[in-house]
Amino acid sequence: MQFAVLTLFPELVQAVAQHGIIRRAVEQQAVSLACYNPRDYTTDVHRTVDDRPYGGGPGMVMKSDCLLRTIRDVRQSNLGRLIYLSPQGSPLTQAKVQNFAQESALILLCGRYEGIDERIIQLEVDEECSIGDYVLSGGELAAMVLIDSITRLLPGVLGHEDSAEQDSFAEGLLDCPHYTRPESIAGLEVPAILKSGNHAAIARWRKKQMLGATWLKRPDLLAKKDLSAAEQALLNE
Ligand code: ADE
Repeated sequence: MQFAVLTLFPELVQAVAQHGIIRRAVEQQAVSLACYNPRDYTTDVHRTVDDRPYGGGPGMVMKSDCLLRTIRDVRQSNLGRLIYLSPQGSPLTQAKVQNFAQESALILLCGRYEGIDERIIQLEVDEECSIGDYVLSGGELAAMVLIDSITRLLPGVLGHEDSAEQDSFAEGLLDCPHYTRPESIAGLEVPAILKSGNHAAIARWRKKQMLGATWLKRPDLLAKKDLSAAEQALLNE
């Protein structure tokens, strides 16, 4: 996967590739991350990237000219769809992440200030994407969320141990509880079944925990899910 990110803060975005799984993915060449700074595509002496909004009001708007030049340059080496991160976008879900992970390249456009000139969205943006109903001070953290969630789904990036197929959200449920040593912490014991060695019983217990947690904490997710007869029976037990 080839990621190109258009951002006024390339150091911030590059940080996502300096640690953990994404760093490993870059080293394995499963992903590349290239940042393009619209400020480098300005032509005035002050390197201006924003301007006052037509109609007045607070804040500034990212100018179109340097953005258009940046996009033109990015497209020389990245043929992916252009995703604009914004609270006006359609909400990111695990299903959307799975679809993005099928692509071979993506261009992520990060806004700052009040946003970007609307005509850039009309002319250049293929999809507007939000990571939740709250407002960040820019699209960078959202782009990093996208890069992280996509990268861990790419073939060979996660080891066998933490395979993405085992992600609870892959099947639309919350995760089950996890435990490691010691067996007892402040009188709280590891559930006996996890020490039984009975893998079928453990899998059943985990699925029941996932269903129960989702029922309690996120009934909206459960309502969307088509439960199998076995899952329905576990939930009713
Ligand atoms: N930029 C600012 N807020 C955002 C959000 N919630 N999602 C995506 N991009 C954003």
